[in-house]
Amino acid sequence: MKEQLEQIKLNALAALDAAATPASLEELRVKLLGKKGELTAVLKQMGKLSPEERPIMGQMANAVRADIEAKLEERKAAIHAAVLEAKLAAEAIDVTIPGETVAVGHQHPMNQVLQEIKDIFVGMGYTVVDGPEVEFASYNFTRLNIEEGHPSRDRSDTFYFDDNDEVLLRTQTSSMQIRFMETHTPPLCMLAPGRVFRKDEADATHSPMFHQIEGLVVAENITMGDLKGALINIMNKIYGHDAQVRFRPHHFPFTEPSCEMDMQCHKCHGTGEIDGNVCSTCHGEGWIELLGAGMVHPEVLRNCGIDPDKYSGFAFGIGLERTAMGRMKINDLRLIFDNDVRFLNQF
Ligand code: PHE
Repeated sequence: MKEQLEQIKLNALAALDAAATPASLEELRVKLLGKKGELTAVLKQMGKLSPEERPIMGQMANAVRADIEAKLEERKAAIHAAVLEAKLAAEAIDVTIPGETVAVGHQHPMNQVLQEIKDIFVGMGYTVVDGPEVEFASYNFTRLNIEEGHPSRDRSDTFYFDDNDEVLLRTQTSSMQIRFMETHTPPLCMLAPGRVFRKDEADATHSPMFHQIEGLVVAENITMGDLKGALINIMNKIYGHDAQVRFRPHHFPFTEPSCEMDMQCHKCHGTGEIDGNVCSTCHGEGWIELLGAGMVHPEVLRNCGIDPDKYSGFAFGIGLERTAMGRMKINDLRLIFDNDVRFLNQF
């Protein structure tokens, strides 16, 4: 029996040394130490021994078992380490390989110009606000002194949602003048950028959807001089001090007096032609209309509960795309909406 135990031990240690995977190790554990294992089989024969031999053999069997268990643990640790080593080697990465650059986007040129304009006006004390694109005709027209039947209310110019012409896509951010005066008392200084919609055919300077930046200042003793000062200041900041602008008298129902401001065409530099052809950017005008403006009509102030005998104000509506075209030297407004990355990457 002693020899049997010796043999079991030798075979077991050799087999364990040869095992190379956790699975084969587990198989060996069952075979060597399990209920149906070789060692158990030997122990079952202990009954046949004499009482003197029994404790000696028992001790020896326990020692063999302990040796096998110790070896098992040792191999387990070694195999685990080897597996880990192999995994680390297989998954090794070369940290010196240059990474793949991720293409990072940037602001759309129009938003860059909008941000610039907002910053300038915030610096002059204006509050920037947002308002609804789906608007009531009363805000877009009526309370701005644009009476029923006025051509700008025509169905051929305006996108209406209903048969009564009461709800529409706003045609101008001037609706925000009413919304702001309704909820604020003078002195007030508001800037409201946003989208507006008109039934226009798209060409180099027109689009059925475009952006305006509405400005409104109402306080005591506000004059046309304040309006011109604010607008010239902003144009100088956007285009530089040699910016050529001109004011023309105009008519808007909600301002009196009213004007429009043009910027000299950046493409033909005011000549209206390029190589003997009519300049396509300004249609030969030499100037590009940038904004409408004027002194807030007393009737509009009254419509918002503001006393026109005490307060006066000015308002303007800047065309953002056209301003961006001049600022970024873009010749066709449609490029701004095409979102061709080859175009956008230039800014
Ligand atoms: N809302 C006018 C337009 O869309 C522009 C404007 C704004 C004119 C404010 C005067 C005052 O043409």
